[in-house]
Amino acid sequence: MFPRTSEHNDPMSPNRNRTPRTVQFASFGDAGVLDIVEMPPPVAGPGEVVVEVLAAGVNHVEAFLRQGRFTDELPVDLPARQGTDFAGLVTSIGPGVTSFARGSEVLGHTSMASHATHIVVPQSHLVAKPPSLEWEVAGSLFLAGLAASEAIRRVRVNRGDTVVISAAAGGVGSMEAHLAMNAGATVIGTCGERNFDYLRQIGVKPVVYGDGLADRIREIAPRGVDAYIDNFGEYNKAVADDLGVSASRFQSSENRRDIELRAMRPGPEDVAAQTSTLARLAGLAAERKVRVLISGFYPFDQVREAFDDLEKKHSRGKVVLGMRPVDNSFHGLGGRKVRDIHESSA
Ligand SMILES: NC(=O)c1ccc[n+]([C@@H]2O[C@H](COP(=O)([O-])OP(=O)(O)OC[C@H]3O[C@@H](n4cnc5c(N)ncnc54)[C@H](OP(=O)(O)O)[C@@H]3O)[C@@H](O)[C@H]2O)c1
Repeated sequence: MFPRTSEHNDPMSPNRNRTPRTVQFASFGDAGVLDIVEMPPPVAGPGEVVVEVLAAGVNHVEAFLRQGRFTDELPVDLPARQGTDFAGLVTSIGPGVTSFARGSEVLGHTSMASHATHIVVPQSHLVAKPPSLEWEVAGSLFLAGLAASEAIRRVRVNRGDTVVISAAAGGVGSMEAHLAMNAGATVIGTCGERNFDYLRQIGVKPVVYGDGLADRIREIAPRGVDAYIDNFGEYNKAVADDLGVSASRFQSSENRRDIELRAMRPGPEDVAAQTSTLARLAGLAAERKVRVLISGFYPFDQVREAFDDLEKKHSRGKVVLGMRPVDNSFHGLGGRKVRDIHESSA
């Protein structure tokens, strides 16, 4: 999907001349307010590196911020940039950087910046990319993976537990499912029928969300449910109560939002733990113990389309921006996504 380096594409080549560009929004609104603008070449200060971004995940909480929904929790000065997850190549290092060098392959996290061709980040926000980890997976691991890890930790998933995960086919839900199964739990995942095959394929028992959900879960979990992780919100708390899940083993969509908002603007005390969680996830993903399906891969210039896709709330796995894809034909499907194919041919 990504070009191997030739002199033309090689970010290290002195002949390469690309003006850095970033996504920016100057007013709050839908994805239509997103523009791509040129920016001055970033310069690494002490302890910082410049990364040429190759892939960056897109996340609901970024859309919520751009819609102006969380300005109390996380004030945004306009015009603002966006983007939290990324993977790419280090193109220059500032004084005092010892862990990375020009050409290092990295993934990391940043605060409202990664949807750009180049970013400056402190080295403390970076992890070396395992060689076998795909760029687009590496570039979409942070925010979803952090939310998933924290949810699993908070509900204390143990071997033998039965855990319900809402929106289990989504970016966060699917990572939670892998982490819960790694811990030895049986996972029941809510989704539409279109995602039954996908969830079964990764080892999750699918169940359709909506009216009657508690009864359907009881049918496939006659011995009860130990923990419930809700990504979607709405009626899920009532379903968990109906199933007798204790409050301490229920994780709400609002809890998740708070984790993500904090991850988007971490205090200095948060960074080391977040980077270490990212390193652990990168290892699990490289070993295929967490499998991240990329069902929407968009060239950088199509950032509006990427968010439109995500905000329809029916993507599967992660939606990712690619800054240097070989072409814009989405895996050769001429703009169609694999997840849309069997519906349109049914
Ligand atoms: N409360 C908050 O502030 C907050 C914070 C973060 C995320 N969220 C919400 O949590 C959801 C999942 O997050 P994500 O990042 O994993 O997003 P995602 O990747 O966009 O999740 C998409 C999945 O959500 C499923 N879905 C759609 N309608 C659903 C419903 N009524 N009940 C259960 N699942 C449903 C879809 O399944 P089908 O295609 O099979 O229908 C799809 O696989 C998103 O809808 C997001 O808006 C809320």
